[in-house]
Amino acid sequence: MSYPADLEVHGRRVLVVGGHPAGLAPVSRLLAEGALVTVVAPEVATSLRDLAERGLITWLARDLVAHDLADPALADPALAEAALVVAATGADASDTAVRAAAATAGRLVVSARPVPVAPAAALPLLGEAEEAARTARAAPPAATGRVILVGGGPGDPGLITVAGLEAVRQADVLVCDRLAPLTVLSQARPGATVIDVAKIPRGHFTPQEEINQILVQHARAGRVVVRLKGGDNFVFGRGGEEWQACAAAGLAVEVIPGVSSALAAPSLVGIPLTHRQLTQGFTVVSGHLPPGDPDCTLDWAALARANTTLVILMGVATLPAITAELQARGLPGPTPAATVANAGLPGQRAVRGTLADIAEVTAAAGLAAPAVTVIGAVAGFDPHAG
Ligand SMILES: C[S@@+](CC[C@H](N)C(=O)[O-])C[C@H]1O[C@@H](n2cnc3c(N)ncnc32)[C@H](O)[C@@H]1O
Repeated sequence: MSYPADLEVHGRRVLVVGGHPAGLAPVSRLLAEGALVTVVAPEVATSLRDLAERGLITWLARDLVAHDLADPALADPALAEAALVVAATGADASDTAVRAAAATAGRLVVSARPVPVAPAAALPLLGEAEEAARTARAAPPAATGRVILVGGGPGDPGLITVAGLEAVRQADVLVCDRLAPLTVLSQARPGATVIDVAKIPRGHFTPQEEINQILVQHARAGRVVVRLKGGDNFVFGRGGEEWQACAAAGLAVEVIPGVSSALAAPSLVGIPLTHRQLTQGFTVVSGHLPPGDPDCTLDWAALARANTTLVILMGVATLPAITAELQARGLPGPTPAATVANAGLPGQRAVRGTLADIAEVTAAAGLAAPAVTVIGAVAGFDPHAG
């Protein structure tokens, strides 16, 4: 017998057994509520691996063993103290075994949403030649599947749009990234399939070509496929490429815009990107390539004299080079600047400084990706002045 309850988990240890994408929604929700989450599983979904690498959860890369739950004297303290156990193995029989073991050990236990969830690698994808042949024939899709590109906003489940949430509820298949608001996956309908195709910077990733194939193949099978990404799919989100892949396959695509982190991160810490007395515009750039890199196409001299707010995404590692280049190109060192990390997420943090020192201030505070840096007079905005 079970009893539905709202549990107070803030500051409490929670053990998640299994690393299946079924656990993405509960783990995200537990983090949002301030729980201390330990995942025990030999392998985990990429988004869970990302959370572990960012220090937001603890991942013990092994199977659960009998004494983990039954013998507090032998167990890892994080497991011995876990009041709540979440079964997220992705297999009914294994979840049932975890539930039984946890109940016997006197722990409260819940299952991650019991939906069938497929890891990307397990999908029977079409071979490239077969795919090319199908595309060349330009045959009409066999069924009326479609793809919805949904921008999920910066991570706070409250910042996805009403239309985006409705699409999540209707989807047969959800193809999601690590920076998407994974908590909203709990709203997916029973039976929906969640596929985690997260890309970890300089780490594990699912190739874009494979993601395109996943979208096309599921939609061709007549399914409603939601491509759920963080922010807006068309802002450094490869949304255009995914749309092209779907269009080439003759599939209908719907686009639901999201609140880009370029806008949300400054807003959430009280920085208006424009302000009548300060600036008449803003420019959003990717900082993933430093100035001088042969593949960097940005005109840093033009950006330095544009007199608009500069918003830099993917620029934590390159911030020293970028700020040096902007100063060398004439943007004054005392120009206000701010970095906002994990905007809209439980670990949101921000630091303020100047163009001259924001790289140092950001590093000294230990801020890491995902982060947005804002450079311009608005970064020094004081709502009480004026
Ligand atoms: C590949 S881009 C994707 C941007 C996304 N499509 C958007 O519109 O926000 C990833 C970068 O977005 C920024 N970002 C995404 N989510 C963020 C968040 N919650 N807080 C701060 N920056 C974020 C970071 O600069 C990160 O490196």
